[in-house]
Amino acid sequence: MKIELLKKEFSEITADLAIEFLTKETLEDHGDASVLKQAGFKADQDQICTLHEKGMIFCGIEKYGTDHLRSASAVVSKAISGFGYKNAKVQQYYLKNTAPIIEGFLLGSYSYQNYKSEPKKSEFETLFLSSDNFNGEEITFNELRTAADNAVITANATNYTRDLVNTTPQDMNPEIMAQAAQELADKNGLDCEVFDEKRLEEEKMNAILSVGRASVHKPRMIHLSYLPENPKTKITLVGKGLTYDSGGLSLKPSTSMVTMKMDKAGACAVLGILKAVSELKLPVEVHGFIGAAENMVDGSAYKPDDVLTARNGKTIEVRNTDAEGRLVLADVLSYAQDTVDADYLFDYATLTGACMVALGPYTTGMMGHSNHLKHKFQKAINGSGELVGSLPFNDHLKKLIKSEIADVCNIASKPYGGAITAALFLDHFITDEMKSRWLHFDIAGPAYTESPWDVNPHGGTGAGVRMSVNFIRSLAENS
Ligand code: BES
Ligand code: ZN
Ligand code: ZN
Repeated sequence: MKIELLKKEFSEITADLAIEFLTKETLEDHGDASVLKQAGFKADQDQICTLHEKGMIFCGIEKYGTDHLRSASAVVSKAISGFGYKNAKVQQYYLKNTAPIIEGFLLGSYSYQNYKSEPKKSEFETLFLSSDNFNGEEITFNELRTAADNAVITANATNYTRDLVNTTPQDMNPEIMAQAAQELADKNGLDCEVFDEKRLEEEKMNAILSVGRASVHKPRMIHLSYLPENPKTKITLVGKGLTYDSGGLSLKPSTSMVTMKMDKAGACAVLGILKAVSELKLPVEVHGFIGAAENMVDGSAYKPDDVLTARNGKTIEVRNTDAEGRLVLADVLSYAQDTVDADYLFDYATLTGACMVALGPYTTGMMGHSNHLKHKFQKAINGSGELVGSLPFNDHLKKLIKSEIADVCNIASKPYGGAITAALFLDHFITDEMKSRWLHFDIAGPAYTESPWDVNPHGGTGAGVRMSVNFIRSLAENS
């Protein structure tokens, strides 16, 4: 779908369909109120009414707010993709904020068709956006254009992440993920370095090697960098890239194993963020490190009872091979910190089911030592359309991952607070200098969905991309 911003009044634009968002109040004053009401339209949030004979589609909205407009736009875009119209027009609803409407359209109409023998193709081609402002407030066309371009880049990067997450394990293994990273690097002018098994051994990255040992597809570590001239600040992103998580010898029950192709969503988010940041040409140096592995079972599999020595020399008692993501991240975090002296260090991982228990399925769990950084992040991502909740560390929980025989244990001794104890495990691999610059994002809940919600259809959602791009943009503007 193309988005075209036009310097024209809404009424001057010729299109197959005109889109209008109505609240209960604005419905009352509308010229078509009686027809709409007769058709049962009450302007409830996300309720749709199409008057084909007039070439109009209406969508109810609780108020003209960012989240409401985004969600309604997603519903409209999904509906019209099945109608057969070629284009539609919508007017500006918000000062300087074209993003929610554009995101709603581009994210809401996404559908992954690669495994269908007869992929459905939407006839819909272009959404015309009128510069005509619903509120009548002043905004320059250039400001609108910049906001629109940014939103298109960010939404397309989110859909790119979704495509990668939705790719099945037979088509996406660590090696293929490294190829995808290389392709992105070639297209977007990024540097890309891939570590194969031998390099990982040279780096003494025994934790990721152990996790991937029982797979025929051996692990890879990928380092992508976006290096603009005169960067204002430097950020390192680390992603968990389990192209499949069977649980290993601590095998998952069969129902929990389904959807575990999504265990690479952290890595895919890192790729999506790098795509967006490089296309937005933000003056921020961004490094992406991905630990890609497949957690499988064979005679060589790592075992509960093994003790692994991670890259930083710490020893880890393995008591559950399904807590593999933290092992992969341990090595990659250690390498990332030794390689780049960043101002910020963020990691993204579908790390724990416990995070969903704590926050529900829609919210990313944010953890870290610095309250200042957590607040800064929350503030910057407000309005991004992603939900983030903070889960607090405390010293009592640290005891739960103590090991009698090694430096740390890969699971906690008690079944509560599992998202936090996983993050406290990662903390063992964060250097003292980086502790206050580090945030861990557990995206196990929002990364993948089998029941569509908000702008997310079935499958990968691209969780992590929009919020992080917003944060990095705020660094570019305020550093
Ligand atoms: N990849 C899973 C976490 C997960 C679960 C993500 C459900 C998305 C949906 C992770 O590797 C895992 O298996 N974690 C275990 C940890 C436990 C063994 C301490 C879990 O959450 O059950
Ligand atoms: Zn697991
Ligand atoms: Zn996992």
